[in-house]
Amino acid sequence: MARIINILRNGKAQEEIEVKGWIRTKRELKEFSFIEINDGSSLGNLQAVLNSDLLNYQDIIKRLNTGVSVSIKGILVDSPAKGQKVELQAQEVIIFGDCDPETYPLQKKRHSFEFLRTIGHLRGRTNTIGAVMRVRNACANAIHQFFQSKGFLWVHTPIITASDCEGAGELFTVTNLSLEKIIQDKKDEINYENDFFGRQAYLTVSGQLEAEIMAMSFQNVYTFGPTFRAENSNTSRHLAEFWMVEPEIAFCDLEGDQNLAEEFLKYVFKYVLDHCPEDMAFFNQRINQNVLINAENIINNEFARITYTEAINLLEKSKKKFEFPVEWGIDLQSEHERYLAEELFKKPVIVTDYPKEIKAFYMRLNDDQKTVAAMDILAPGIGEIIGGSQREERLDVLQSRIVECNINGDELWWYLDLRRYGTVPHAGFGLGFERLVQFMTGMENIRDVIPFPRTPMNAEF
Ligand code: 4AD
Ligand code: MG
Repeated sequence: MARIINILRNGKAQEEIEVKGWIRTKRELKEFSFIEINDGSSLGNLQAVLNSDLLNYQDIIKRLNTGVSVSIKGILVDSPAKGQKVELQAQEVIIFGDCDPETYPLQKKRHSFEFLRTIGHLRGRTNTIGAVMRVRNACANAIHQFFQSKGFLWVHTPIITASDCEGAGELFTVTNLSLEKIIQDKKDEINYENDFFGRQAYLTVSGQLEAEIMAMSFQNVYTFGPTFRAENSNTSRHLAEFWMVEPEIAFCDLEGDQNLAEEFLKYVFKYVLDHCPEDMAFFNQRINQNVLINAENIINNEFARITYTEAINLLEKSKKKFEFPVEWGIDLQSEHERYLAEELFKKPVIVTDYPKEIKAFYMRLNDDQKTVAAMDILAPGIGEIIGGSQREERLDVLQSRIVECNINGDELWWYLDLRRYGTVPHAGFGLGFERLVQFMTGMENIRDVIPFPRTPMNAEF
């Protein structure tokens, strides 16, 4: 069976083929009819011509409504129509499943993304969501190729974990108790602190600490898996379940970390432009006219690099009125991040060396004793897309940071052990995979770049 993407790209007249997919449109004329079929492999549909002398033509053509699943066998012929080299002269049509045009939720007109979210089980059949899922797949492929070609080991870190890597209190607790028991126990005023088979456990917010363990044996590793944050924020950039890519590199400092992150983003953009040109052109035309310029800009220009202190100075000097007042020590808000990337530099900006008070315990303390070797990459239109740092590899400094941050060091005995036994400078970063797909496609809402969004509002499946 042929896939439509290959037929549209390389199909030749006289080839005999069979395609399977779903009908997009039908145009009935007197002697023959045109149908467009899509099989999910491409943005473009394959046009098939059904002559009226086809077996059971009258019956078939009546049933071939939008959404019907079919198999069509036939011969490719040169197409007189604009925009397609070949079309399919149908010789045999088999209908697998009818589709009632009266009740089918996907009509020919353009639907809003809000509406499509209410029919998540069918939205993959639309042009935009179809293109998003193909670009998402290409990004995932590029990520693996990039790290594999550099000899990084893909490590599978746990989803159920005892550690709160970011210390931001955004954990989902995992429990083996039934909801009825929890409610009854609450009534009886029984409090459980440990409820994962007698221990405290959470859904992971980041695979970093486990990736650090692996990097201390294998040098260069990366994770690529789902992570969870119980932040009740209904924004266009936050999900409760999102995918993160986290490389961890031994014998590496903050500069090496920034270099890797920049090279990595450039590679992924180039790969997607090369592999999904039709989908990317579609985003540029329909979703955001900066998509292609933006991609070229990422690939061809160096990212800006500034320190947090320089960023604060630039923000203070700007004439823009920010909602959240700017002073040294604040956590950069989305409006600040977007101003820097979108308006000032007009390209990705790497901000380094943040105040230690607003960053996680594991980041390496700088010589000034006030800042840590952190880096965030801010992208135009998105804001933070990557967060990373050089890790604190000195046992004594780490121990005092743990105390300063009010963290229970006993639970991190294994993390401290890594600093006791053959510690090395190391660094890494985390890329929000959905934010990358948003950045790449220009899609406004993060719920539309993941097949099954998990937010406080959506979790039907
Ligand atoms: O900046 P974060 O919190 O960094 C970490 O988790 C580190 N442990 C990473 C590391 O150094 N290995 O998260 C990393 C990235 C963010 O830059 C953002 O792109 C994404 O994860 N992210 C989210 N994406 C979607 N929904 C959310 N709720 C997100 N929270 C973070
Ligand atoms: Mg961050």
